[in-house]
Amino acid sequence: MAEGQTQSKGLEGIVIADTRLSRVQGDIGRLTYTGYDIYDLAEHASFEEITFLLWYGELPTTKQLKRFQGTLNEFMTLPAPVVNAMKSYPVNAHPMAVLRTAVSALGLHDPAAEDNSQDANYRKAMHLTAKIPTIIAAWARIRSGKEPLAPRDDLNLAANFLYMLHGREPEQVEVNAVNVYLVLLADHGMNASTFTSRVVTSTDGDLYSAVTAAIGSLKGPKHGGANEAAMRMFREVSKASSVETWFKNEVKEKGRRIMGIGHRVYKTPDPRAVILKQHAEALCKAREKCGLLDVANKLADLAAADAYFQERKLFPNVDYYSAIVLDAIGIESDMMTPLFAMSRIAGWSAHIIEQWQDNRLIRPRGNYIGPESQTWIPISERED
Ligand SMILES: CC(C)(COP(=O)(O)OP(=O)(O)OC[C@H]1O[C@@H](n2cnc3c(N)ncnc32)[C@H](O)[C@@H]1OP(=O)(O)O)[C@@H](O)C(=O)NCCC(=O)NCCS
Repeated sequence: MAEGQTQSKGLEGIVIADTRLSRVQGDIGRLTYTGYDIYDLAEHASFEEITFLLWYGELPTTKQLKRFQGTLNEFMTLPAPVVNAMKSYPVNAHPMAVLRTAVSALGLHDPAAEDNSQDANYRKAMHLTAKIPTIIAAWARIRSGKEPLAPRDDLNLAANFLYMLHGREPEQVEVNAVNVYLVLLADHGMNASTFTSRVVTSTDGDLYSAVTAAIGSLKGPKHGGANEAAMRMFREVSKASSVETWFKNEVKEKGRRIMGIGHRVYKTPDPRAVILKQHAEALCKAREKCGLLDVANKLADLAAADAYFQERKLFPNVDYYSAIVLDAIGIESDMMTPLFAMSRIAGWSAHIIEQWQDNRLIRPRGNYIGPESQTWIPISERED
C-alpha cells in the first residue's frame, strides 16, 4: 500500500461524514434520533412524526403533523403506468426486486426527477415515503391475482398499508405493531444502504437513483434481507427434532450463521431487538400462537450460552425479533424486507438531503495486488 494510505476491510470503523440524524452507540447499546432515545420514540411516536423529525430536525406541532400527514395521503396513489407495468412482472419475482424496479419507474413519471434542488428533493422524498407502502401492498395483491386497492385518506401510513394489503379494516394491534416497527427502523447511522444512497448522491446523482440503489443494497441477507432469512431459518428449526439438535448440527458442526444475530456496530444487545422482543411476546400471547417465538427464544438462549457467540459479542439484532412480529400480523416472509424499506426511506431521504448540504464525491481507493508490467500478447498467439 502506498504511503499515507490505510485499509479497513468492509470500511469498519471509518467515518465518512458528519450527520445530525441518528447516533448508534454500539458499546452501550444506545440508539437516538436527533438526540431522542429510541425507547421513548418507540413508546410514543408515530412513523409520520419520526419522518418529520429526521427531515426537519424537530418534532412537528399538531398543525404541522396534520399537514404532513395530509400530503402523504395525497401522494400515496401510484401513477397508472407504474401499476400496469407491475401487472406484467413475473408473479414469482422477489418483492424487493419489484420494489427496486417500481421505485426506479416512479422516477420516469416524475417531471422533477432530475431536479436536485432541496425543495424538489423534499417533494420526491415525500412521494416515495407515501408510495412505497402502496407498491408493496399492490404487489402482494397482484401476485395473488387480486386487483390492487386504492389508499384511503382517513388512515395513517401504517393503517393504510395494512388496509391495502389485506383489504379489510386493520386491527389496532396490527397498526401499532407496524407503526413501532417503522419507528424503530427509520434510521441507523451509516449502514450499508444509507451509505449506498450517499455514494450515489455524492456523484450529484438524483434521489430516485440513490433510493433505487439503496433498495438493492438493503435486499442482501447480511443487511435488510436478514429478517426474511431469519424467518425461513426459524421455520426450518421448528421442523428439526429439537432446537438443540439443529444448533449442534447446523451451527456448531456445519458453521452456519444464525440469521438475525450479530452486528457490525452493536457489541451489546441491539436496543431495537429488545423492544421488538417485548412486542413479539405481547402479540404471540394475544394471538395464542407462540410456536416460532419459542423457537427464536430457545435458539437465542443457546447462542448466548455458547463461548463462540460470547467471545465475538454476537447478540440478536433488529431483524431477529422483527421477523416474529411481522409474521404474527400476517406479513409473508418475502414481504418483510420491503417493510424495512418502507421505514428506511425516511432515513435514506434525510441522508440524501444532508449529503447535498455538504457534498463531495465519495471515492475511496483500492489496494492493487494484481500483476505488474505485463507484455501484451496478440490473440493469435494466446493458447486455448
Ligand atoms: C451482521 C453481520 C453481517 C456483521 O458482519 P461483520 O461485522 O462483518 O462481522 P463478520 O462477518 O466479520 O463476523 C465476525 C465474526 O463473528 C462471526 N459471526 C458473525 N455473525 C454471525 C452469526 N450470525 N452466526 C454465527 N457467527 C457469526 C463470524 O463468523 C466471524 O467469526 P470469525 O472472527 O471467527 O471469522 C454478521 O453478524 C452476520 O452475517 N449476521 C447475520 C446476518 C444478519 O443478521 N444481518 C443483519 C444485520 S442488522
